[in-house]
Order: sequence, then C-alpha cells, then structure tokens
Amino acid sequence: MRIRRATPADAELLSGLAARTFTETFGHLYPAEDLQAFLADAYAVDKQRIILAHPDYAVWLLEADGVAVGHAAAGPCGLPHPQVAAGDGELKRLYVLASHQNGGWGARLCDTALAWLERDGPRTLWIGVWSQNHGAQRFYGRYGFEKVGDYEFPVGRVRDHEFILRRSAASGA
Ligand SMILES: CC(C)(COP(=O)(O)OP(=O)(O)OC[C@H]1O[C@@H](n2cnc3c(N)ncnc32)[C@H](O)[C@@H]1OP(=O)(O)O)[C@@H](O)C(=O)NCCC(=O)NCCS
Repeated sequence: MRIRRATPADAELLSGLAARTFTETFGHLYPAEDLQAFLADAYAVDKQRIILAHPDYAVWLLEADGVAVGHAAAGPCGLPHPQVAAGDGELKRLYVLASHQNGGWGARLCDTALAWLERDGPRTLWIGVWSQNHGAQRFYGRYGFEKVGDYEFPVGRVRDHEFILRRSAASGA
C-alpha cells in the first residue's frame, strides 16, 4: 500500500474512484436518479482535472499494488459557516474502499492531507460530515475536530443533514 499525490493525468481514475466510494458508502440513501445526477456533476472528469491542476487544492490516492482503493482531497474552506475566514482550509473528501478500511490507512491519508493544509503553519481547518456518519465523526474527533454547526448538502433533490466540524489553528491539536 502506498499514498501518492494525484496529478491532472489521474482525473479519469479519480472520477471513477470517487463515484465508487461515494456510492459504496452512501448510495443506499438516495433514489437512483438523484444519486446519478449528483455523481455526474460532483465527480465529472473535467471537474477533477480542474481541481488536480489548481495550486490551492490537493488530492492523494491510496493504492494497493498500484490499484487505487482510497483518496483524500483538501483545499480552501467552502463550507457555509459564518466564522469561516479567508485562508481557512478544508478536508474535502476522505474515502477508503470498505475492503481496505480499518487498517490505519484512512488515518495515514488524513495525516497527509492535514499536514499539507498546515504546510505553512497552523491553520483553522473545517470538515463537513453526514450527521449519521458516527464512525467518521469519532475518527475526526481524534484529530481534535469539534462540531460547530450544521448545513444541508444537496444530493440530487435530496437534502442531507450534515455537521460542520472545525479545528481552530489555536487549538494546538
Ligand atoms: C473514515 C475512513 C476514511 C477511515 O478509514 P480507515 O482506513 O478505516 O481508518 P483507520 O483504520 O485509520 O481508522 C479506523 C476508524 O475509522 C472510523 N471508521 C471505521 N469504519 C468506518 C466507516 N464504515 N465509516 C466511517 N468511519 C469509519 C472509525 O472511527 C474507526 O475507528 P473506531 O471504530 O475504532 O473508532 C473510512 O472508514 C471510510 O472511507 N469510510 C467511508 C467513507 C466515509 O465515511 N468518509 C468520510 C466522509 S466525510
């Protein structure tokens, strides 16, 4: 297993992997039509290419014998919370295929993304997480993230209740 920074050449791979991991984790929550609309928009190959080429964003792939089994994405905070300030960062995605979970690789991916977000020093960081995703909330709690708000995340016509988590730069976590 290894973690590597993704490049624009990985746009197609990332699009497929992101759709697969989202569907595996959350697909059962939505009507097929809404899920498809969300995947086609959020994980479109062109969008991945733009993110992968943008200096303010970074994506990492977790590979098992050269096959991608997880990814993490980080960038400027886009969450709707009144205390988000210019310069704040966000862990935007963290997914490991179920077949490769619970081996510590999610933590390594998360460490990699957080270290990159704080490469120039401590920074207030944010994460949006589904309100019912208790495993991920426990996981982020261990990194010092705390719930500071809520928002609605659209998946097709469905609106998910999400928690907004924050780790302030001053927390020293
Ligand atoms: C969250 C996730 C990346 C962690 O990866 P991992 O390789 O299993 O992580 P590690 O082995 O380093 O750590 C295990 C911890 O992950 C969390 N976890 C385990 N299974 C999980 C699951 N199905 N969903 C969410 N979190 C889970 C738990 O906190 C677990 O520790 P604990 O149960 O002992 O408290 C991975 O479980 C995952 O991809 N889950 C599904 C997608 C997801 O929910 N992503 C977060 C979206 S915001």
